[in-house]
Amino acid sequence: MSKAICTICHYLYDSRLGFPESGIPAGTPFWTADDSLFACPQCGWSKDIFIEVEESIVEVEDPSDLTEIESCHVPRYTVEDDVVRVTVGQDDSEHPQEREHMIEWIEVRDGNGESIDRVYFGENDDVEAVFSIDTDEEFEVLASCSEHGIWKWIPHESTNL
Ligand SMILES: [Fe+2]
Repeated sequence: MSKAICTICHYLYDSRLGFPESGIPAGTPFWTADDSLFACPQCGWSKDIFIEVEESIVEVEDPSDLTEIESCHVPRYTVEDDVVRVTVGQDDSEHPQEREHMIEWIEVRDGNGESIDRVYFGENDDVEAVFSIDTDEEFEVLASCSEHGIWKWIPHESTNL
């Protein structure tokens, strides 16, 4: 899911609900909503005055003991020559990639939590992202599900999962 708040009147955009009165259907992530249609239902201001709301992040620490919901959401990655290759879900715990429920993006952040790059996905896309970054520097990988929020893996020793 994605949420954004109107900085004028504090009305909240929730992607699960959309803004049907403005022509933005339910299930539309904030960042894909049509700029020309998007208008705050309360005060009428346009999309550019909205800011995205960061959701709480679910951190998964123990790779040997995952629940089913953890296993199909947490981003797994390999690192080789400054290339980070990320997938979500495994053969026995695939995540749906349907309009109502999908992995919306995978993002790599630096050690300060600032975004370095983000890859978006749509319906039926293969959920795989490849980032070229300086892997000698600290980084983290996150994935966002439209239903279940943002997920992060905390590697213990090796980042090769
Ligand atoms: Fe999910």
